Amino acid sequence: MRGVILREVGKPVEVSDRLTLRRPGPGEVRVRLRAAGVCHSDLSMCDGTLPAPRPLVPGHEGAGEVVELGPGVAGPPVGTHVILSWIPPCGSCYFCLGGQPNLCVTARAAAGPPTLSLGDEQAHAALGVGCFAEETVVDARAAIPIPDDVPFDVAAVVGCGVLTGVGAVVNTAGVRPGSSVLVIGCGGVGINVIQGAKLAAAAPVLAVDRLPGKLEIARRFGATHTTTPDGLADAVNELTEGRGFDYAFEVVGRSATIKQAWQATRRGGTTVVVGAGSLEDQVSFSAAELFATERRLLGCLYGSGDVRTDFGRLLRLWRAGRLDLDGLISRRITLDDVGDAFTAMASGEVIRSLVIF
Ligand code: APR
Ligand code: ZN
Ligand code: ZN
Repeated sequence: MRGVILREVGKPVEVSDRLTLRRPGPGEVRVRLRAAGVCHSDLSMCDGTLPAPRPLVPGHEGAGEVVELGPGVAGPPVGTHVILSWIPPCGSCYFCLGGQPNLCVTARAAAGPPTLSLGDEQAHAALGVGCFAEETVVDARAAIPIPDDVPFDVAAVVGCGVLTGVGAVVNTAGVRPGSSVLVIGCGGVGINVIQGAKLAAAAPVLAVDRLPGKLEIARRFGATHTTTPDGLADAVNELTEGRGFDYAFEVVGRSATIKQAWQATRRGGTTVVVGAGSLEDQVSFSAAELFATERRLLGCLYGSGDVRTDFGRLLRLWRAGRLDLDGLISRRITLDDVGDAFTAMASGEVIRSLVIF
């Protein structure tokens, strides 16, 4: 089959038609991809910001159709439309039973033999899903059923960017109506933090991005105010009487912007780190500051969500016109254009590029 391959960090990705996929084993299903979004974390794996094994088939924001069940697998049945979850909840570990299935590592750790090969070499599916290939074999619990009438492109974006962004607001932070919200970084994920803030009836919602074009998009998705980073200090003063925001979301993935979000959070307020930073990038602040201002600093993995219920919930909000998913899709591309989509994302030309199969 065809798929995108990263051979070396920092080198352009290639497309190969020599990828082979093994049959699904016990506990697994084979899914034919129908749409897959290009998320910044894919680029981060390709440029070395996030660690990943190689050769790698990137892509972790996908939707498709179940085409084969492994031996003894009860479902979802062949033909079911699914969104792929890059954290399959095992359902029975400490985290799953404790209501934090986004922190489950059990299913992924128990994964069967490698699913992909490239000639006689083993290849790796990014985050256990590898969506930039025609098909994938995944843990059956990573294939979350959705209604047949949901378009695959809309479904795909729910699989990472939408759950991560909206979930950061409604699950991780639990923003209440009338709270002031700051969002730093208005890409595919940040725009969904803004949509989440609108859903939560937050106000004001200040969006910050270094690209003025992104600020215009941010306003369209619900930001009440916008600024480039150089105007942040003034905006904090104007919008919060100098106190800082109730909630500040960092959606870039760098220590410098985490620090900005922290500094713009009020006493007793909450900073949420949504961006996926590198292992080496350290964040620091004074111990006294943390103690004396009682600010809270929260990490956020996959929107603190439960994919088994949250994918459906987000699609119902979309159906009711409360969440704009169609507007997130800037470009529809083929597997051959994934390299260009990385460039377009890095230069800020797109919110999401969607590979259509
Ligand atoms: N200050 C403000 N905005 C910035 C800065 C900065 N210093 N640096 C980058 N940005 C903006 C970019 O202009 C862009 O609009 O952050 C946005 C990032 O958006 P995308 O590249 O579309 O990335 P996205 O897919 O939204 O992911 C953002 O979340 O899931 C993680 O790994 C992902 O860390 C990444 C983050
Ligand atoms: Zn992602
Ligand atoms: Zn679990």
